[in-house]
Amino acid sequence: MDPSPSPSLPARPAPGWPAGVSIVPTDPAHAPALREALGSVARERRWLAAVEPFSEAETHAFLAINRAAGVPQFVAVAGPLVVGWCDIVRLYPYPGYEHNGRLGMGVVAGWRGRGLGRALIDRALGAAAGAGFERVELEVYGSNTAAVALYRACGFEVEGVKRAMRRLDGRVDDVVCMARRSVPPEPGDDPGFPGTL
Ligand SMILES: CC(C)(COP(=O)(O)OP(=O)(O)OC[C@H]1O[C@@H](n2cnc3c(N)ncnc32)[C@H](O)[C@@H]1OP(=O)(O)O)[C@@H](O)C(=O)NCCC(=O)NCCS
Repeated sequence: MDPSPSPSLPARPAPGWPAGVSIVPTDPAHAPALREALGSVARERRWLAAVEPFSEAETHAFLAINRAAGVPQFVAVAGPLVVGWCDIVRLYPYPGYEHNGRLGMGVVAGWRGRGLGRALIDRALGAAAGAGFERVELEVYGSNTAAVALYRACGFEVEGVKRAMRRLDGRVDDVVCMARRSVPPEPGDDPGFPGTL
């Protein structure tokens, strides 16, 4: 875990939804602009595991697979630009895992702190049940104070921490595993791992 304060955390501008921005379901036509948006966040080398953009072919394939699977995927658009995204993908191809989705999201620097992240995740979580997801999980770096606060506010709980999992640019970061369950445990459910070995 990085104990130092995070000087590069975005300053929080006065709240206010940016004019002309809307949240819409992701369409194949968004692929080039989404690639730009994700690439710009990846190149910050702080928030995402990827530090380079995916190729346009990879982006098209990702969108097509998600579209065929009917999983939630939304973008924030400002004219021709994609300025944020949120998707919940089906990660595990095994029987018994169908109710699990993995959330990924980002808002382009310069558009943060104005409500887009919250709006994107609300839309995606609102569509999760329709895709069969009762449990939505994610991974976030421990130093990513803004994202952790957002996820907690949306009902995600910490399930575990992978200590010092990333070492990049002199920064050592934990990977925090969080999940949100929309169906509460029932009496008789397995009580779960006791937490200590
Ligand atoms: C995390 C992220 C998606 C939040 O999006 P955003 O549009 O900036 O967030 P919003 O303006 O909608 O704020 C939603 C909540 O996030 C949290 N938050 C946002 N900015 C914050 C900041 N600078 N410090 C602390 N909390 C912050 C707050 O809980 C906020 O709720 P509040 O306004 O009621 O306090 C955005 O900062 C981002 O894209 N960061 C880089 C990429 C990334 O981290 N992706 C997630 C990887 S797991």
